[in-house]
Amino acid sequence: MREDLAELQRKAEAELNSAGSEEELLAIRTKYLGRKGLLTLLFRKIGNAAPDERPLLGRLSNEIKEALSVKIENALEKLAPQGKYGALLQEKIDVTLPGRGVRHGRIHPISQVSQEICEVFLRLGFSVAKGPEVELDYYNFEALNIPKDHPARDMQDTFYVEDNIVLRTHTSPVQIRIMEKQRPPVRIVSPGKVYRHDSDVSHTPMFHQIEGLWVDKGITFSDLKGVLTYFLQQVFGEDTVLRFRPSFFPFTEPSAEIDIQCIICGGTGCRVCGQSGWLEILGAGMVDPEVFKTVGYDPEEISGFAFGLGVERIAMLKYSISDIRLFYENDRRFLEQF
Ligand code: PHE
Repeated sequence: MREDLAELQRKAEAELNSAGSEEELLAIRTKYLGRKGLLTLLFRKIGNAAPDERPLLGRLSNEIKEALSVKIENALEKLAPQGKYGALLQEKIDVTLPGRGVRHGRIHPISQVSQEICEVFLRLGFSVAKGPEVELDYYNFEALNIPKDHPARDMQDTFYVEDNIVLRTHTSPVQIRIMEKQRPPVRIVSPGKVYRHDSDVSHTPMFHQIEGLWVDKGITFSDLKGVLTYFLQQVFGEDTVLRFRPSFFPFTEPSAEIDIQCIICGGTGCRVCGQSGWLEILGAGMVDPEVFKTVGYDPEEISGFAFGLGVERIAMLKYSISDIRLFYENDRRFLEQF
């Protein structure tokens, strides 16, 4: 039987070697490997052989079958693209290949943090307002009680587009634009891009701020404290410890800066908080009566508070990111972590 198998292989190979067309090759395949083919018939006879011979014979005939199939495939492929079979081979799709995978886009970490912050204020009844990034000097400075020769203008390095047009240096001009159009009560947050001539590990020339403004009858500094305390504890955790420090902004009086106890060292002092144990997070204050007069509100009748914060700074603290420039290098390995 072993002899028969070897003989069959020899014959089949000889026929294959002299076959020159697709039809001949397909005929050889049927003759030997088909359901009633010679090899198939021999295979069925293995059952009659001596029991200790069977495994060997089985393996042998499988090897021959495999070898012949490969030879026929190869020969057919060589003839491609002539003939129908060649065309089929060319269109063959290997459905076992691993897929190519679709990469998902993600919301940029700055957008995520910005949305998260706005959502806290939306829950408190604020709505979102937007303003232009290319802004008139009037809205960016003048109407915010920062006249042309005011030393406060030195606090910011401004990009001028023209004499009276700037890239806004903060989101505070949106306060003015909204109050000009709307009578109190006003309760808005305004997220967006701002620009300052500055660049190092914690500053980029473009960054994001969120402005907040609440104006109504009888708004007091305790409202400011309550809202901002709630906000910071929502973002940084219920146990966050705050500190309100007196400060100065031309458009608020009194003004404050709000620190949280360092979330890295817990207040004992580290590199992130400059050994002080505190992190500066927000600028805020009661809207200056001068600003109300400019937009036609009566400061005797209404009052309000405003605040501003940097989104990058909050994102950096939240995710322990030490270099602000990572946000803008478009390195997918960084961005895909969010
Ligand atoms: N506009 C201020 C800044 O960019 C922040 C601020 C906003 C302060 C509103 C007080 C009130 O530094």
